[in-house]
Amino acid sequence: MWVPTLLKSIEGDMRTAGLHITAEDIYSINHGSIKDAIVHFGGGCTAEVISEEGLLLTNHHCGFSVIQEHSSLENDYLKNGFWAMDKASELRNPGLTATFIIRMEDVSERVLSELASQQDLTEVQRREVVMRVGEAIAKEAVEGTHYQAVVRPFNYGNAYFLIVTETFRDVRLVGAPPSSIGKFGGDTDNWMWPRHNADFSIFRIYAGPDNKPADPSESNVPFVPRHSLPVNIGGVEEGDFAMIFGFPGSTQRYLSSYAVDYVLNTADPLRIKMRSASLAVIDAAMRNSDKTRIQYADKQAGISNAYKKWIGEVRGLKELRTLDHKREQEQVYTDMAMKRDRLDLQAVLPELKSLYEAYVPLAVSRDLFVEMVYYGPEVLRFADGFRELVEDQAKLEADGKFRTKADERAGNIHGFFKDYDASVDEQVFKALLPIYRANVPVANQPAALREIDTRFKGDSDAWVRDLYARSIFTDEARLKKALMLPSKKFAKLAAVDPAYRTARSFFRSFLEQVRPEHAVLSDRIEAAMRTYVKGMMELEPERTFWPDANSTLRLSYGKVEGSEPRDAVVYEPFTTLDGVVDKYVPGDVEFDVPERLLALHAAKDYGQYGVNGVMPVCFTSSLHTTGGNSGSPVLNGRGQLIGLNFDRTWESTMSDIQFDPEKCRNICVDVRYILFIIDKFAGAKHLVDEMKLVQREADPMPGIIELPIHR
Ligand code: ARG
Ligand code: ASP
Repeated sequence: MWVPTLLKSIEGDMRTAGLHITAEDIYSINHGSIKDAIVHFGGGCTAEVISEEGLLLTNHHCGFSVIQEHSSLENDYLKNGFWAMDKASELRNPGLTATFIIRMEDVSERVLSELASQQDLTEVQRREVVMRVGEAIAKEAVEGTHYQAVVRPFNYGNAYFLIVTETFRDVRLVGAPPSSIGKFGGDTDNWMWPRHNADFSIFRIYAGPDNKPADPSESNVPFVPRHSLPVNIGGVEEGDFAMIFGFPGSTQRYLSSYAVDYVLNTADPLRIKMRSASLAVIDAAMRNSDKTRIQYADKQAGISNAYKKWIGEVRGLKELRTLDHKREQEQVYTDMAMKRDRLDLQAVLPELKSLYEAYVPLAVSRDLFVEMVYYGPEVLRFADGFRELVEDQAKLEADGKFRTKADERAGNIHGFFKDYDASVDEQVFKALLPIYRANVPVANQPAALREIDTRFKGDSDAWVRDLYARSIFTDEARLKKALMLPSKKFAKLAAVDPAYRTARSFFRSFLEQVRPEHAVLSDRIEAAMRTYVKGMMELEPERTFWPDANSTLRLSYGKVEGSEPRDAVVYEPFTTLDGVVDKYVPGDVEFDVPERLLALHAAKDYGQYGVNGVMPVCFTSSLHTTGGNSGSPVLNGRGQLIGLNFDRTWESTMSDIQFDPEKCRNICVDVRYILFIIDKFAGAKHLVDEMKLVQREADPMPGIIELPIHR
């Protein structure tokens, strides 16, 4: 995951691997380069510009919430897809942003020299200095422009980069396939290979008449980019060079053995246990009722995505013996530090060890608090949302604001109850509570849970049942009625409500018993990691170190290739439309296939996108990716778009901690399948016409000088 400003130093290796263009063609601050087509989409995903009129390509799962937002029973875009047949029909999305990187610059020296000039800083003081210097650097960088800038830490604060960005605020939905294509295979196929979905959606960036970012408005016009990616319809072959450019969220490749031990043996297993318990309840309820299936679709997807990833991560870390390797590396580190009389480095691993001993119980408390309150029974956070009406009742009443606020709440609670089933929620609570109580140190548990023993003879199910039976927050009508009470009465009722009290108690125990010490220890771990990683670089100057992903722009390169992920298992790198039809289960939520796609398949009507009667669908490549790389472009050696990244194979999910080049593969939609769906399936050929289609081994991008080919 290379930082793009450093590509010059690996240009030779990339050329040997099959790159036909220069580092400067990929990242330049002097002229248009590929980086000018790469967008941080909505802060969490990546997208890329694929036309001179600001057309953006990203994943279906990245556009999912927007598509859902525009969907209704009459216009069910999730189910049927959406295609704007002209620009006037494109749909606006207030709040959705598209951010370009104008430039990145290593400003480590300025930040680190300021830090060095001050003695004995605590972590908190250190952070303040970094913030102050960073803000000054950022301010200078954008003076007189409409750009934004931040200074971000890399390598645990051993390096700092200035990042100057340009953010567009009018990003419209242009097209999305039906979920039966975009999310074909659902959770069953998620994180798995072979894969058969076209996980894409299309947006367009709009700018003011001056081509600069503007608030959403009628008078905005399609943005003219500095660069748009040519789309290669000539196809890809096994062994072809490939690179990915995007915004990977976070990796942790320098973790100590103590941290890996925590993830592998405590955090992941506990979170898997929690989610497996809640998914058992939710999945069964969704199978039993269509209403529940629709109500819980989105929540279930969120819970199950990480759940399935963690299972893969645990398996992968075990198979790679990551913990053993970490311990071996730490022994080597210690030996080297001793040989060189580096007392500071000799001390750092024992320090991390003792820090983790203190940290683990707090981390468990925090992680399970998050699982309980943010991914568990929804009534907790919902009830907590009424805090203002309860705690500030007297003041609100005195200011004459209580009634308006209460009516407002009464008016929008339907949004919550529409997708809520109290009996499912109650079962989720019952399923999670014993796991929570058995694993979180008692002192860190909410006081409200003591009633289980004092009033319910230790029967936590009975305690939960009582909560749901008595709470006003588990029933829409009951809550509406309560909200009509005089303010004082409402506040009194809510304050003793079992759901409200339990929610407050969860938050209080977390904020008072867990978070303060957790923060102190996290700071100390961060400081120790800074020393540890710096030591690695000093002890092994010949090794290449790339900084962990941190949601900044990165490039990784490799090849289009399959893998041998497990004993006797071989993954071929390509899937085809035949595989879609093989998986077809009429009427199934995950594996239904639209009639029209079946007809196109039966007629082999693939237009210019198929090859010899075969329609390519997905492929794998050996690119190092992580969450946030979704929607990233996969490019060939000439910088032409060949695929759209959207996932990893299950055997790759440990790559955030240890990347194994033999096993780890990212999963892409073949760009030809995307074009086929747009043109032949959806009849939106005008969008394909906007793009610049190129053939395999065609001329390099206009404006880019080709260097001699080393292949
Ligand atoms: N696994 C993909 C990534 O982590 C998300 C895929 C979304 N699709 C799904 N069926 N949940 O974001
Ligand atoms: N699906 C992930 C994303 O949304 C990508 C990954 O984790 O491989 O960014």
